[in-house]
Amino acid sequence: MCRFAFFDAKPYDRTGFEKYGDMHNVSFKFLETRLSEDTVGLAEGADGVCAFVNDDVNASVIERLYKMGIRIIALRCAGFNNVDVKAAYGKIHILRVPAYSPHAVAEHTMAMLLTSVRRIHKAYNRTREFNFSLNGLIGFDLYGKTVGVVGTGKIGRIFYDICRGFGMNAIACDPYPDGAANIKYVTQDELFCGSDIISLHCPLTAETDHIINRESIAKMKKGVIIVNTSRGGLIDSDALIDGIKTKKVSAACLDVYEEESDLFFEDFSGHILQDDTLARLLSMPNVLITSHQAFLTEDALDSIAQVTVKNIVDFFEGGDLENEVCYRCDKQPQCKKQRAGRCF
Ligand code: NAI
Repeated sequence: MCRFAFFDAKPYDRTGFEKYGDMHNVSFKFLETRLSEDTVGLAEGADGVCAFVNDDVNASVIERLYKMGIRIIALRCAGFNNVDVKAAYGKIHILRVPAYSPHAVAEHTMAMLLTSVRRIHKAYNRTREFNFSLNGLIGFDLYGKTVGVVGTGKIGRIFYDICRGFGMNAIACDPYPDGAANIKYVTQDELFCGSDIISLHCPLTAETDHIINRESIAKMKKGVIIVNTSRGGLIDSDALIDGIKTKKVSAACLDVYEEESDLFFEDFSGHILQDDTLARLLSMPNVLITSHQAFLTEDALDSIAQVTVKNIVDFFEGGDLENEVCYRCDKQPQCKKQRAGRCF
């Protein structure tokens, strides 16, 4: 039986991880706290660590884990921008769940867009107070509008297809366009200039950090709607707030926020929100925020647990690690994974 310290555990994580862990002799010590330099000591005695999106897996945390004898960090998410993969290289293998349910995220993206455009969130609150007035609830048809999809990976292309199903004119940009897919690619600038709705589905990297900023917003159509279910750092929040105040941006749907790590997934009702930028966004009637919820379906949770436990089993059985990531993975042929089955 191998033992894993499971950081940032939530009640909904347990069912799947206990089920697949029992099947494969992997036990999880569920810890409510996040992984950080202050909490890394809780992993003492474990054979590995299981981490999530807001755990801070920086170089110092990695060094401490390495000194404890830990050689695997099993991420139960797709993104790994919170992990110093360069510091981990040669010491600790980083495994992730590259795709658990791209449909969950793409469907949540459309749910947010429809909620915003048809004012469902306002109508829900109104009718609960027996207010059946329609004043202020005018929406618009998605049919015929142009949606710009930034990033046509697993999630982006499903969202693209959903939009096509609504009769929208869909365009997309991606530095690695899929020529075989039935996708209408344009340049990033053409997408920014020509879209009524812009939806972000690219990873957070040095190149995409604040891809939505003052300059890019200036290029957009007046009244553009910006949707982000990818990573908060893709948007410069202050620039977005100014764009909304000047009415250049008519609405924003945000499942992620650049400073979410201290807030999202926790209950702060009854507290004074210290983050003035988030408070400002929440005060705006045309901003819809969910707290990194897009992945949260039964199907996705089951798949996350199943793949994470498989990654762990593959690691300890010495098998190939198809879901390993390292800082050289995108520098083929430098990364050894394709030749040797593991990144190092
Ligand atoms: P993926 O890796 O399949 O696709 C990402 C695509 O973005 C690739 O085609 C890549 O070429 C493209 N890309 C990279 N740089 C770009 C740029 N500068 N401009 C346009 N496209 C660019 O990733 P996947 O699975 O589709 O995930 C997309 C995002 O969704 C990730 O950031 C991930 O972290 C996030 N995500 C959010 C979740 C949530 O609950 N809100 C859950 C799961 C993923």
